[in-house]
Amino acid sequence: MALHVFTAVTGAAWESELVGALDRDDHGVTVVRRCVDVAELLAAAATGTGQAALLSAELRRLDGATVARLTAAGVAVVGLVEPGDDPAAQRLRQLGVARVLPADSSPGQIAGALRDAVAGGPGGGRDLADPRTALPVLGLPAEPAERPAGRGRVVAVWGPTGAPGRTTVAVGVADEAARLGTSTLLVDADVYGGVVAQVLGLLDESPGIAAAARQAGAGTLDVPALARLAWSVHPRLRVLTGLARADRWPELRPGAVSGVLAEARRLAALTVLDCSFNLEDDEELSFDTAAPRRNGATLTALEAADVVLCVSGADPVALQRTVRALAELREVLPTVEPLVVVNQLRRGPVPGDPRQEIASAFERFTGQQVRAFLPADRRATDTALAAGRTLAEVAPGSVLRTALRALAAELADVPEPAHRRRRR
Ligand SMILES: Nc1ncnc2c1ncn2[C@@H]1O[C@H](COP(=O)(O)OP(=O)(O)OP(=O)(O)O)[C@@H](O)[C@H]1O
Ligand SMILES: [Mg+2]
Repeated sequence: MALHVFTAVTGAAWESELVGALDRDDHGVTVVRRCVDVAELLAAAATGTGQAALLSAELRRLDGATVARLTAAGVAVVGLVEPGDDPAAQRLRQLGVARVLPADSSPGQIAGALRDAVAGGPGGGRDLADPRTALPVLGLPAEPAERPAGRGRVVAVWGPTGAPGRTTVAVGVADEAARLGTSTLLVDADVYGGVVAQVLGLLDESPGIAAAARQAGAGTLDVPALARLAWSVHPRLRVLTGLARADRWPELRPGAVSGVLAEARRLAALTVLDCSFNLEDDEELSFDTAAPRRNGATLTALEAADVVLCVSGADPVALQRTVRALAELREVLPTVEPLVVVNQLRRGPVPGDPRQEIASAFERFTGQQVRAFLPADRRATDTALAAGRTLAEVAPGSVLRTALRALAAELADVPEPAHRRRRR
């Protein structure tokens, strides 16, 4: 059966000729609707009468959200650009169009790309293309030479509800990694209301992640733009502040978050994400699969990260929450293998030797080893909160700071200074 295709290439000089040729010859493609703009294309996609869309880079108001909605409606997308227009091809890829062809490709080649897009495969089926997996199609490089895929490592700091200390760990790890010489970007990705700006004493009016996501959605985010949106806290630490208001979560669409992370990998050797606790997939709760999903940003961040830390509290209630959260994570993202970090370790809430008891409880209930223990150190955290500064600045000799520094060295893959190691 012929593939039913929508086109949205109006205005391009080659439109009629191409659409005619596609339809006329036996390429196994039928153009069911020629759309004049994004609104008509989305309306056509919602009818369920087509499996693919062919659109041009010049299509007005085309953004990442449009591509995500087409994908959610089961419409695979192929982009066309003027021959040699690499920036336009790059922009389409940033918007989530994995298959981009020059407009002078033969109708047979275009029909083949449409069929491949519908069949899925590398580079397809995601709402934002990973430039590293995009197919090098028909003479256009998957990634222009001047924009190599970023090599920076992404660490997502996550954990169950109950304020186990995700923000404290994310801020501490980022600050310590930067002090150990690693260029670091700290991103407040908490869709339930970020507080990193407040913790670090920064003005929360800064545009931060919302602006970065907007630019990624429009295909205009690059390394200089991301650097402009981030605060420079000290020479090697940049901070992308979070949503100033929790009700602005729809701005953090999953596709846009992927786009921000792709640029973050280019900007910094280490990106640390302060994530929300909630993994519930709102899509399952809604019939509208194109509706914004509050937890989509968290799921995207955890899936994209190279390392996921699961921060747990160190009392029986917190431990049980972590065991449940780990089971939930395994269910929704089975390939993610989080490292458990037990925070606020202290004598009292757990009988006996808390370190030993907690380690064996995790082994018993999750089969997982605890990767790091961070001591409770209220005096140090309170001093830091009161000053809007990091532990390294206000409590450099504290036990919590020392433990965070060791964790940061491990995550950034750099040695700790010798005297610190000896003291430990
Ligand atoms: N190791 C620690 N010792 C003492 N206090 C700590 C420690 N870690 C975190 N805290 C304190 O616990 C409180 C909650 O920590 P934090 O804000 O980092 O948690 P969270 O998991 O990010 O919470 P939220 O759900 O609000 O995002 C803060 O007041 C923080 O200073
Ligand atoms: Mg937090």
